[in-house]
Amino acid sequence: MTLTHRKANREDLDALRALMEAAIAELQKPFLNEQQVASSRTIMGLDTQLIEDGTYFVVENDGELAGCGGWSRRATLYGGDQTPGRDAALLDPSKDAARVRAMYTHPLHVRKGVGRLILSLCEDAARREGFSRVELMATMAGEPLYRACGYEAVERIEDERGGAPVPMLRITKAF
Ligand SMILES: CC(C)(COP(=O)(O)OP(=O)(O)OC[C@H]1O[C@@H](n2cnc3c(N)ncnc32)[C@H](O)[C@@H]1OP(=O)(O)O)[C@@H](O)C(=O)NCCC(=O)NCCS
Repeated sequence: MTLTHRKANREDLDALRALMEAAIAELQKPFLNEQQVASSRTIMGLDTQLIEDGTYFVVENDGELAGCGGWSRRATLYGGDQTPGRDAALLDPSKDAARVRAMYTHPLHVRKGVGRLILSLCEDAARREGFSRVELMATMAGEPLYRACGYEAVERIEDERGGAPVPMLRITKAF
């Protein structure tokens, strides 16, 4: 097994959407009921701003798309292009935390270190731009990964924007 990584580009969009749909539908099942999985589709997903900003990565396993995720120097904490309440304002590295965004591993490639690799790419890139912290809104499916990578809980919330309330955990890591 060889994991490689590169920045995502617009030609990846269809494949990324398919991968995200598979990850949302399959990997959240142990944590959420059917209504909450449906609700997740409103509040999660692809943020094309990250691709335009050059801060979104894809990971391939022996050349096959295995996962994606990125980071951001912009204020939006989570959500896809379709999620209401987005904010493209630039963060201030001297006082704000960079965002980690939209982490998804294809169900056929879980527990191979794809998520861990993308997180380290994000943290390194944010550190290079002068940020001393990162933060994100974790799904219940994502929480074990972030805990394993040294993230600490800030607050639990429920997001009702998609219908059924979806439990989420705001989580942070200082470098
Ligand atoms: C969260 C997600 C990206 C993790 O991806 P992954 O590539 O399987 O994670 P990794 O293989 O890098 O896991 C690294 C470590 O995290 C922990 N971990 C990851 N998934 C876990 C799980 N389901 N249960 C328990 N621990 C888990 C383990 O400690 C693991 O190390 P190990 O496999 O050596 O024990 C993936 O489950 C996913 O796409 N979920 C659905 C979408 C989602 O909710 N994304 C998060 C948005 S915030």
